[in-house]
Amino acid sequence: MFFDTHAHYDDEAFDADRAELLPALHEAGVELIVDPGCDEESSRRALALAEEYPFVYAAVGFHPEELKSYTGSLETIRALAAHEKCVAIGEIGLDYYWDDSRKDEQKALFRAQLELALELDKPVIVHDRDAHGDCLEIVSDYPGLRGVFHCYSGSAETARELIKRGWYLGFDGPVTYKNNRRAAEVLAVCPPERLLLETDSPYLSPVPMRGRRNDSRNLRYVADKIGELLGRSGNEIAALAAENGRRLFGIG
Ligand code: NI
Repeated sequence: MFFDTHAHYDDEAFDADRAELLPALHEAGVELIVDPGCDEESSRRALALAEEYPFVYAAVGFHPEELKSYTGSLETIRALAAHEKCVAIGEIGLDYYWDDSRKDEQKALFRAQLELALELDKPVIVHDRDAHGDCLEIVSDYPGLRGVFHCYSGSAETARELIKRGWYLGFDGPVTYKNNRRAAEVLAVCPPERLLLETDSPYLSPVPMRGRRNDSRNLRYVADKIGELLGRSGNEIAALAAENGRRLFGIG
């Protein structure tokens, strides 16, 4: 029933109980999970989880916050992407939250990974934090590319532009936060067939789980809230989002 298209189960936050937790999630109705890597090491760990659990898939790539561990070559990422359970290049993108964000280097790494995705014919998982204009400009340079703007936080206007270009939008815990008017505005312009559900576990727990470690079981709170905003049931939202995720990531 639920497809969590973005959860970091390779994160150390799950070290203590990962082996019990993952089967429990599946038992609780989480049918599929995509675990995106953030650098070479976590991409490897994500693939190892995908090998261990049939319902887990992986993405590989350098997160903009891991720029420091990028040595100028994507050869390892390219090799990892050949794994049969690697369904995307990600998590990649731009993050301008920090003052010393080395924007030019981030942009170059982002472009290099978008080009790799095009070459390998894989979708991408984009992280865009405080960099909406540059992200839109850059992805617009690669018209054949498909993918998702994970935890979409831009305006409804930018959402429209992305949707026109074929992109999917990912929705997470923040849609449940009080006074999140922007989420409602974005959902109003997002066609149902472009919507994905994600947790970004262990981060971004939805209400009423805020402040606790997140996991994919909490996807139902996000689905219910979106359902409430769109006048549909949470189950309907979960089902159509799961269908969308399978389509984007090519999971039959
Ligand atoms: Ni993430």
